[in-house]
Amino acid sequence: MKKLLIVANWKSYKTIYEAKVWIDKISEQLKTFPPVDYKKVIVCPSSTILFFLNQAIKNKELPFFLGAQNISKFPQGAYTGEINVDQVKELADYVIIGHSERRKYFAEDDAVLKNKVSLAVSKMLTPIFCVQDENISIPKEIEIVAYEPIFAIGSGKPDNPSEANSVAEKIKNKTGLKYVLYGGSVTAQNVSEFTGMPSIDGVLIGGASLDPIKFWEIVQNA
Ligand code: PGA
Repeated sequence: MKKLLIVANWKSYKTIYEAKVWIDKISEQLKTFPPVDYKKVIVCPSSTILFFLNQAIKNKELPFFLGAQNISKFPQGAYTGEINVDQVKELADYVIIGHSERRKYFAEDDAVLKNKVSLAVSKMLTPIFCVQDENISIPKEIEIVAYEPIFAIGSGKPDNPSEANSVAEKIKNKTGLKYVLYGGSVTAQNVSEFTGMPSIDGVLIGGASLDPIKFWEIVQNA
């Protein structure tokens, strides 16, 4: 059975209090519907919540890994307001880089993204690199790519699974990558259509990951 990566991207949602409610509810779900080994769950909250989730996962022995949604393009230094790679690595193992919202609203271009990837990899923080189509450049250090077509993000209109599979396949053929995920309007109802595809190795979930019950349903159906 292939290993599936299931990534929750909370975007700029949730306070620590709301994250605690999410953790409490999902812990209940886990008792009734236990996790399985071949599905690796990575939760990516806002940076202000990372410490809380890191502690909650340890204390409650939850089968989750943590990821950040961003790191500074600079290393540690005089960069007011930035959260650097070392600060993230203390709390998380993964970081989302290249999301279309960062490209669009924060003007992150290929050069900036390449720089962030190098910083992350140099500190053993694994990037989950988002691409919007098969032509987007992928830095050579990348091991996990998430294909997220812009029209599918937050729209309730996911890509056609076989179309997504063919993009994933092209990316794999071009780069030799082992992990290509799909993201964009994934739900408990449609997730298996994506994870059932031969070239898709998991999913990146935005909106539907905010609700713990829905999220755990997605993990089970994946
Ligand atoms: P969505 O977002 O699941 O809400 O469409 C996916 C993403 O932006 O990563």
